[in-house]
Amino acid sequence: VPIAGVLGWPIAHSRSPMLHGHWLKRYGIAGHYIPVAVAPEDLAEVLRAMPRMGFVGANVTIPHKESVLALADVVTDRAALIGAANTLIFRPDGKIHADNTDGYGFIANLRQHAPDWVPDRGPAAVIGAGGAARAVVASLLESGVTELRIANRTRIRAEQIRSEFGAKVVVYDWAEAGNMLDGALTVVNATSMGMDGKPALRVPLDALASGALATDLVYTPLMTPFLEEAQARGCQIVDGLGMLLHQGAPGFERWFGQRPEVDDALRRAVL
Ligand code: ATR
Repeated sequence: VPIAGVLGWPIAHSRSPMLHGHWLKRYGIAGHYIPVAVAPEDLAEVLRAMPRMGFVGANVTIPHKESVLALADVVTDRAALIGAANTLIFRPDGKIHADNTDGYGFIANLRQHAPDWVPDRGPAAVIGAGGAARAVVASLLESGVTELRIANRTRIRAEQIRSEFGAKVVVYDWAEAGNMLDGALTVVNATSMGMDGKPALRVPLDALASGALATDLVYTPLMTPFLEEAQARGCQIVDGLGMLLHQGAPGFERWFGQRPEVDDALRRAVL
């Protein structure tokens, strides 16, 4: 019986066991997906032991997404560019393969809920420059976005993204983040602001055009203050839960041999 799991520290809050558990049940697959709490100092040892214990792969979450790159034998180009991996495959030859499916999940969520969205038709604006933002930037550029504006409280992290991802990236100062929304077709909150228990994002949305698509990586709550305000301005909005659901699909398919579906029943199961 194939086993997969999610490695994090702490791990109790992870929704991945619900996500993959729902798919295993739906497709009648004899397999398991379990949360594994791994302290940072134990990560290398745990990764080496997992294949021998019957694991075919794993997801990786905070705080291991960056450090796992140095422990993998094969790192995909996009995981290397993003600087983080979320999906591991333990190959039969014993090698650990590391990929990042967050950007795929981000785009797949927009394609599912905003089918008319054409990414290359106008500038995209990304608020935030952390690990999640890097995956979003990579996937937007790969989707053909020709101008990617970015602002982050800590400006140097946005400048780092520009230096790694190229001249299509235009850095705005945090104090000017509202201005970067002017003329943007796509706007993404990739900060943790607006999450339950945290203050709302305070970027003024006055410049946001009513035709724009606004999306948030935060999904607790589903309707963040950022999305509420964008919707009130006439923007199309897509919440962040679908990104979580879609990022899990490629791993599930590789581990269990079935391409899983992302639908409303799954949304309800994971919420
Ligand atoms: P993740 O992997 O979720 O992206 P992260 O790398 O810690 O996590 O990034 C969190 C993002 O939220 C960053 O863009 C961070 O801004 P800084 O780089 O300046 O830290 C942003 N963020 C977190 N708290 C914030 C706050 N109070 N105001 C503005 N931005 C905030």
